[in-house]
Amino acid sequence: MTNSKNGKKTTSSENDSSMLHDFFIDELKDIYWAEKHLVKVLPKMSKAATTQELKDAINEHLEVTKTHVSRLEDVFGLMNKTPQAKKCDAMAGITDEGDEIVSDTEDGSVTRDVGIILAAQKVEHYEIATYGGLVQLAKTLNHNDVADILYTTLEEEKQTDEKLTQIAEDNINVEAAQEVAS
Ligand SMILES: [Fe+2]
Ligand SMILES: [Fe+2]
Repeated sequence: MTNSKNGKKTTSSENDSSMLHDFFIDELKDIYWAEKHLVKVLPKMSKAATTQELKDAINEHLEVTKTHVSRLEDVFGLMNKTPQAKKCDAMAGITDEGDEIVSDTEDGSVTRDVGIILAAQKVEHYEIATYGGLVQLAKTLNHNDVADILYTTLEEEKQTDEKLTQIAEDNINVEAAQEVAS
């Protein structure tokens, strides 16, 4: 396939060897690691949570996250690549912070749930930033099929973030404010 942009003729095979294409694949490896890591971390977060409402929300997002992993595998396939994960230091750092929050808060307290929500929203915001950027890059690289898949995940991350805000504002923050420090 040949297309013409800015008066320059490029072929799709030339596009596939561009620096931007390689960068895009590298970023896919990063978010693939992050999503797979979350599949391991979310059950621990759910177990540590105090309220059933938060446990349910995290468990629900665990199932959604498994879908994100398999969607990325589809994306690698569409890019003619084998799925490969590369450690995402940012996500590792955010989840380490989540672990610290759990160990710094009292077992069975609603304050712990406030902390878990805060950590979980940092995760979602990292994912939103990543998928938002990747959707744009996929479009630039003329991979609209890939952009559509990544956009679906982006919307799910946004919904999760909103749901967490709702749980915090409707109940958990208010309940935690009544807890007396020991
Ligand atoms: Fe995700
Ligand atoms: Fe997520």
